Amino acid sequence: MLKIHNYVLVILIICCNFIVFAQKSNELIINVHGRNTTSLDGEWNIIIDRYNNGYYDYRQQPTADGYALNQKPKSKSDRIEYNFDTSPTIKVPGDWNTQMKELYYYEGTVWYKKSFEYSIKKNKRLFLYFGAVNYHAIVFLNGERIGEHIGGFTPFNFEITSKVKDGENFIVVYVNNERKKEGVPTLKTDWWNYGGITRSVKLIETSKTLIQDYFIQLKKGSENEIEGWVKLNGNSNEQDISIEIPEINSISKFKTDKNGYAKVNMKINVELWSPDNPKLYEVKIKSETDIIIDKIGFRTIEVFGQDILLNGNSIFLRGMSVHEEAPYRTGRAYSEEDAKTILTWAKELGLNFLRLAHYPHNETIVRMADEMGILLWSEIPVYWVIDFKNPVTLRNALNQLTENITRDKNRACIIIWSMANETPISEFRNQFLVKLVNQTRKLDNTRLISAALEVEYPKDKFSPYVNDPFGKHLDVLSFNEYIGWYDGLPDKCKKVNWVINFDKPIVISEFGAGAKQGFYGDKDERWTEDFQEDLYIKTLQMIDKIENLRGVIPWILMDFRSPNRVLPEIQDGFNRKGIITENGKKKKAYYILKDWYKEKTEEFE
Ligand code: GCU
Repeated sequence: MLKIHNYVLVILIICCNFIVFAQKSNELIINVHGRNTTSLDGEWNIIIDRYNNGYYDYRQQPTADGYALNQKPKSKSDRIEYNFDTSPTIKVPGDWNTQMKELYYYEGTVWYKKSFEYSIKKNKRLFLYFGAVNYHAIVFLNGERIGEHIGGFTPFNFEITSKVKDGENFIVVYVNNERKKEGVPTLKTDWWNYGGITRSVKLIETSKTLIQDYFIQLKKGSENEIEGWVKLNGNSNEQDISIEIPEINSISKFKTDKNGYAKVNMKINVELWSPDNPKLYEVKIKSETDIIIDKIGFRTIEVFGQDILLNGNSIFLRGMSVHEEAPYRTGRAYSEEDAKTILTWAKELGLNFLRLAHYPHNETIVRMADEMGILLWSEIPVYWVIDFKNPVTLRNALNQLTENITRDKNRACIIIWSMANETPISEFRNQFLVKLVNQTRKLDNTRLISAALEVEYPKDKFSPYVNDPFGKHLDVLSFNEYIGWYDGLPDKCKKVNWVINFDKPIVISEFGAGAKQGFYGDKDERWTEDFQEDLYIKTLQMIDKIENLRGVIPWILMDFRSPNRVLPEIQDGFNRKGIITENGKKKKAYYILKDWYKEKTEEFE
């Protein structure tokens, strides 16, 4: 029987395990696609733990023998009241809500367990990598806590070199997707909060000193000069490194400092990346102990007066918003197939731009957009009434922003980092968002910054204006408008005259109307395809009059799951503002937008 002081010690260890929320996971390793990895995807055993019995005992005190230990009875009289190996299994990656009926609207704790064989080679390091876990993950290896992560849409990794055993190992992950006031996102959103290990899990084997991170992009405003950096991570950080672009016979050599950091600057002569010519170059980054290969496109993006310039040419962003909802099967999207379907629909519709709403989407769709030539707007879920006064919330948002930019900063297709969506104006909010802008500019000064602002209505209700003080911090001024849906009927669009006090490129970041596919009627009948079609016609005519309009992102490409949408036989748990259903059926508005974008393409050629 454990002596009292040992008992206290065990309790303390578990406490540390459980409570230290903010403890930072290891520094993010980028370009996992280009690394030596072992996939841990597939069936994982799960325990659904609505009362957190895997942590707390009946006194709501942390228990010494939590599920993280994955214990087995040592004798027939031993009392262990759980067993992962005889528990149900669930697919990883994937949300739990669409995989098990009883978990359809489940928010709470689910424990995941995966066993794996491994024998690490002497001069190697090993990292455990998660593409994303919604929302709060605490990770244990062989019963020992190795780290924690908060935020459901960005990757994280932990070093397990000294912890992995030669042979059989087991990972246990505590996953909780309960929404919290201080969370990012917070309690209320208009999308379903899919829980689980929603993206791939990998073991990454590296050399003792690896090339952990790098930024290889054109210098702001230059079409032939790379300005970036490379970061090594290990015990021999001062090394000779080289950056090679074989296709243009370009190779440049640099030296990393004692922190493994090297600024890189090199002249190149390349074809510039654009939606019509999504040219990617193989880029080899070599150090004395590691090599990483990536596919990178080079383009410039900037604003000039009222114009958005891509490679120096004024561009019109023919956009659409999309949630990370899987076409056809619904649930959290993650696969190549999901991405291919969405991006192919986008190309068919004549889009050159997608807004990945309202959180960072998986790396697969971002890399595919790079290959297929679709510009992207990437945002973090600072959405509606975030707890702007709370420093924990700010740290969380800054962390998600940093992980998002770290993962995708070498993707040419991403042109806009967005800070927030429809957040109520206040001093706390403004200060909070400005801190996000400052962090973004520090991490990446080569891209544009925006946010989906809201419109204000004067008494007369017919000259809506955008006068948000946060607008002055943005490169592209974007706002959501729902004239004809949340405000009046589509006919109102004819009477509206916009007042926008910003001499910047304008992008309408949302407009739309709900429609049940296959439901027809006259154009004033809500929920019919005809109403949605009419709203698109009148909205596009209205916004076309906005002088510095440089882009539109209607809400939304595909119907998606939202618990707020309960109208029977119309919504049935789905937001129906898609112009395509979740089963790929096109609605009338689809063709209106397709024609309008065709005209816009000719106008801007
Ligand atoms: C909002 C919001 C979306 C929401 C949409 C709607 O503007 O940004 O997340 O789904 O409107 O009401 O359909």
